[in-house]
Amino acid sequence: MATTSSLATAAVLLLAAAAAVASAVLTGSSSNKGDVLQGPDDLCLGCICEATTNCNLTFGCSRGLCGPLLISQPYWKDAGEPTLQGDSPQREGAYFRCVRDPYCAAATVRQYMNKFAQDCNVNGHVECDDFARIHYLGGYQCNLPMESLLYYQVFRQCLNSVQQLNG
Ligand SMILES: *[C@@H]1O[C@H](CO)[C@@H](O)[C@H](O)[C@H]1NC(C)=O
Repeated sequence: MATTSSLATAAVLLLAAAAAVASAVLTGSSSNKGDVLQGPDDLCLGCICEATTNCNLTFGCSRGLCGPLLISQPYWKDAGEPTLQGDSPQREGAYFRCVRDPYCAAATVRQYMNKFAQDCNVNGHVECDDFARIHYLGGYQCNLPMESLLYYQVFRQCLNSVQQLNG
């Protein structure tokens, strides 16, 4: 059990590192966007990753959802079709290559959140809890209840843990 949990933690941190790079890349390429909205930070993406696939970085696809963050093709399109460097959205398999790559998958989630960020839980803030809801429920119905879902429970537990680690 300790082994499982430390493996998962390692994957979360790896994804978080990938997210940090994706964030740097995105920030660099869209510096004219200003500081309109704070997107998910790296630990937030790590916990979403943990909740979706136990942050399995070698996960393939299941029922049209691919990669460690279980990103569908419509989600990827809504996110603006990010690709691996040198790839093109029009090339066959660009979606699959992106969402299976930790950096590109993290970039996809960030771009999706840029588009759909909202106060799903109506607590007056747009924060990680909202991003987790949007990731699972999509941008158009993120106020649906999800407290009973395993996804959400794992996410909350992860977030509580990393928040304690961060003091
Ligand atoms: C990750 O996903 C792959 C493909 O579904 C699976 O074979 C592997 O066992 C999973 N790894 C873990 C640690 O769950």
